[in-house]
Amino acid sequence: MTIAEVRKKYRDFFSQRGHIIIPSSSIFPENDPTTLFTGSGMQPLIPYLLGKKHPEGKMLVNSQRCFRAEDIDEVGDNRHTTFFEMLGNWSLGEYFKEDQLRWFFSFLVDEIGLDPKRLYVTVFSGDSANTIEKILESIALWQKLFLEKNIKALHKEMETEEKASQLGMRGGRIFSYGAKKNWWSRSGTPEHMPEGELGGPDSEVFYEFDVEHNEKFGKYCHPNCDCGRFMEIGNSVFMEFTKRNGVFEKLAQRNVDFGGGLERITSASNNDPDIFRLDVFQEILLLMEEKTKKKYNEYKRPFRIVADHIRGSIMMIAEGVIPSNTERGYILRRLLRRAIRFADTVGIPGGQLKQLVSPLVRSYQEEHFFIFQKKEYIEKVIDDEEEKFRKTLQKGLKEFEKISTQKKEMTGRDAFVLFSTYGFPKEMTVELAQEKGIRIDEKEYKKEFEEHRNLSRTASSGVFKGGLADQSEKTTQLHTITHLLLAGLRLHLGAHIHQAGSNITAERTRFDFTHPEKVEKDVLEKVEKYVNDAISQGCSVCIEEMNKEEAKEKGVEGSFWEKYPDRVHVYSVVDTQGKIYSRELCGGPHIENTSKIQGTFHIIKEQSSSAGVRRIKAILKENI
Ligand code: ALA
Repeated sequence: MTIAEVRKKYRDFFSQRGHIIIPSSSIFPENDPTTLFTGSGMQPLIPYLLGKKHPEGKMLVNSQRCFRAEDIDEVGDNRHTTFFEMLGNWSLGEYFKEDQLRWFFSFLVDEIGLDPKRLYVTVFSGDSANTIEKILESIALWQKLFLEKNIKALHKEMETEEKASQLGMRGGRIFSYGAKKNWWSRSGTPEHMPEGELGGPDSEVFYEFDVEHNEKFGKYCHPNCDCGRFMEIGNSVFMEFTKRNGVFEKLAQRNVDFGGGLERITSASNNDPDIFRLDVFQEILLLMEEKTKKKYNEYKRPFRIVADHIRGSIMMIAEGVIPSNTERGYILRRLLRRAIRFADTVGIPGGQLKQLVSPLVRSYQEEHFFIFQKKEYIEKVIDDEEEKFRKTLQKGLKEFEKISTQKKEMTGRDAFVLFSTYGFPKEMTVELAQEKGIRIDEKEYKKEFEEHRNLSRTASSGVFKGGLADQSEKTTQLHTITHLLLAGLRLHLGAHIHQAGSNITAERTRFDFTHPEKVEKDVLEKVEKYVNDAISQGCSVCIEEMNKEEAKEKGVEGSFWEKYPDRVHVYSVVDTQGKIYSRELCGGPHIENTSKIQGTFHIIKEQSSSAGVRRIKAILKENI
């Protein structure tokens, strides 16, 4: 079957059973600053799951465009993708377990034609700590459904994945696992759910492919084993709980939130676990084979990465993202640069990445017409980014040569600079180093990288608005200086001053702050002196991680508190005597020590920005 056939069958099936077909929302959540991407079909429906009346009624169905940035590094196997469509059906306080399980099973077996003997299911084994009991009801419902297909389905307890890999299947078809596997909320297990979050036990359906178990993944196979024999194709969440004051409460309505991977279900229908062999990828893979004179079958990983990343990029660009160093733009940049890198490894000639857009647009234009309308624009954005990357690539290669002729071992910091300054993906640096016979301190690199990732995650969660134009040394210096500027303003004008916005490039910082009137020249001079003192003292810039509450109590300066996650990063600028010049909530990056700053801080303009907000433009003047 094709993707389009399964999508249509699903919507028709649920529409015939009283559901209203609703369109896919954007892959960028609206009015939700906490996440960059729509990662599941329920996200746009949260207000309705909480009880708000949906204009289309209580039973809904759709195919939602989703993007999971956290899976970028997983792409390359036969099942992970960044962009995907999630088939979803919802009951907003209407039907519950019995109808949901029956309908989904019937959809798979009667409509798609899957062999029920290849289906295995999991249910929630209960969680005594949170007093939510085992879902016996789901076990009985599944047994009945299988029996109607003449299959005697035995239930087996697993509890955890570790136990499951010791116990194996034991002739079972229905398995119960704990909260890590069979509880769903956007934040994971019950104890990870923040106040007010929605969640509930779930029941997943797995399809069994003709794949031999590999003991590398555990002694025995089981539905949640990663060996590739089983693939999860759908998840029915019985979303009836929320957390208030640390305890679970039932919501006013019992909801069903179902989500199933459109591609995975289609793969199951073809009994082929490789989702890159689905119709939507056929044309792009053929074109890549033509360009490279290589076969997909022999170069699966790079072919898959390029195809996935181009598809994800198309979807993002069509909805208005352009490559940059922050938030969604940063994820898009990572996708495109990784695609270029892997396109290079199989020999797609430079400058041709944009030619891979057309085949994917053709695959999707019927369902997602907007990508067809924006095709030329998408090609241009991809082409521009390829050109830009190839330019820094040359500079980065020179830098690499420099480092590698000086040293036998590359420090983690060196490798990280290649990543952060020249946009070198990690794998590329590792490969280049291997060619030269140089070792990389991978542990240190990982540490730097993790740190960076945490910071960019913090930045990604909608916190670090405006911010830095890039992460070059100059811009980073001006970022640290901007912290000192704010501290100086607070010292000389008062604690009513907070950041209202910032925009920092390698040339200057532009800083908006809350203050009702013009700042006098003598005050500006005092502020300049404050910043220049901190520069000449050679202050170190320290980063600490702490709980948000703790940071508040310590008087750490911050202006977007509510948007920060529970754990925050605090940057302090401290001189050798222990004097704290600045202490502020931030996602980084910063320089390590103010002695790195070569120049004198100058305020060149102070003006009104908007009501109650002033704006300062400042630069670093070179010392002569
Ligand atoms: N919201 C559920 C999921 O994403 C269905 O798995």
